[in-house]
Amino acid sequence: MTVDTKQDGRTVHIRTYGCQMNVRDSEAIGALLVRHGYRLLAEEAGADVILVNTCSVRGKAEDKALGKLRLVVAAKVMHPGRVVGAVGCMAQRLGNAILKEVKGLDFSVGTHRLSTLPAVIEAVCAGRGPIVDTGDEEPETESLAGHLGGSLSAFVNILLGCDRRCAYCIVPEVRGREWSRPAENVLREVRSLAEQGCREITLLGQSVMSYGRKNPVWEEEAVSPRGFVEPLPRLLEAVSGVPGVRRIRFTSGHPAGCSSELARAMAEIPGVCDHLHLPMQSGSDAILGRMRRGYTADDYRAAVKRLRDAVPSLALTTDIIVGFPGETEADFEATRRLMDEAQFDNAYIFKYSPREGTPAATWKDDVPDAEKMRRNQVLLVDQDRRGAELNQACVGRKVDVLVEGPSLRNKERWAGRSSTNKIVIFDPRETVQAGDIVHVLIERVGPQVMYGTLRGTLNS
Ligand code: SAH
Ligand code: SF4
Ligand code: F3S
Repeated sequence: MTVDTKQDGRTVHIRTYGCQMNVRDSEAIGALLVRHGYRLLAEEAGADVILVNTCSVRGKAEDKALGKLRLVVAAKVMHPGRVVGAVGCMAQRLGNAILKEVKGLDFSVGTHRLSTLPAVIEAVCAGRGPIVDTGDEEPETESLAGHLGGSLSAFVNILLGCDRRCAYCIVPEVRGREWSRPAENVLREVRSLAEQGCREITLLGQSVMSYGRKNPVWEEEAVSPRGFVEPLPRLLEAVSGVPGVRRIRFTSGHPAGCSSELARAMAEIPGVCDHLHLPMQSGSDAILGRMRRGYTADDYRAAVKRLRDAVPSLALTTDIIVGFPGETEADFEATRRLMDEAQFDNAYIFKYSPREGTPAATWKDDVPDAEKMRRNQVLLVDQDRRGAELNQACVGRKVDVLVEGPSLRNKERWAGRSSTNKIVIFDPRETVQAGDIVHVLIERVGPQVMYGTLRGTLNS
């Protein structure tokens, strides 16, 4: 790869809002800028360039990113020569209008154009700003396949965009059409990560089970040793075969993608974790229908059953929206019941927020904010109890833990994550190292953490 060192010595700080996809984009941008001679700073102080990677998913997310941008722009007076840019979903959504929202912003680059950042920053520094780039060309993914290295676990994009068009959701507008990266490109990225010591790969897509449905991702002659036909199981199998990869996760799920083949893949492929994030959104058929989610409560139940039959130890997490237009008390109670049935280990609960340009935004936002708040609170209390019970049930069991490093609180102990994605703290420390997978006997649990004792190393 040719490296442009014209920017040598310039420093950049990236602040990230939003989902894992934005976290991944920020890392990819960071790696791209490093290849162009920049130095990444963990703090704002001393940065020549500040990038704010923005999220549009709810009004509050946009307010946060805008507030941050205005603060950083205002602070420019104290840092002569500093340039400030917005990137990501809000940059994509607002286009030129972002310059009115944030007076003094130097540039704004949307989700499809991140690969142009080195050139955009250079142009701005040469006095050719402000620049707004939200072009709708196909995103250039391979120059954005870089990683910063040095971590045990990494995100890898496999599916860009989203074609589902749920009635409330702005993501398809800001992330564009669904497009699956060729499996060979994904595997090249995974191999390079594994060679640098990465042990856990999380494959990312907004609706990740749609991988390979819209465009072909496999060479014709590639075969699956376990006889999988669907693209995602085949990819999981191939990633599992990369030397050094110990664990594989993929997110986010959708009930329509929970096929019996995927369930078998989760059960059979070594390293695929016993955890799935499977957004439910609502337990009411009327609401699910209006949300255009493409499934009923029964379909959701069936998906959960298929997965749990194959993987009895599976931990499920979910997203819920409360106060969707027209949500009645009975609809809400249906959500409560389905959450209880599904036995989620964790749930992210959001108050409905109308997003301009989505179908739902044209419907009356008729659940008062106080009622949204109440429903949110009720579900949180339910979930706290449910989560505590599920954690309690782990006491006395042995779990597999990927060792991450010394516990922050007590350096005499280790911290890691279970296959079910829970933080596990254990001792003694002597015999293991970061990157090992070990057996830990769970002895007690807190709301967020499980504690236990080392009972053997699986392998290293
Ligand atoms: N692609 C993911 C979700 C991305 S957005 C998926 O479909 O699984 C993350 C979550 O934000 C969604 O699952 C939903 O619960 C919530 N969300 C999206 N749009 C929202 C809106 N307009 N108001 C409130 N919550 C919303
Ligand atoms: Fe949004 Fe639905 Fe796509 Fe998820 S699946 S990103 S909620 S449109
Ligand atoms: Fe937000 Fe964009 Fe993710 S809108 S949730 S950062 S895809």
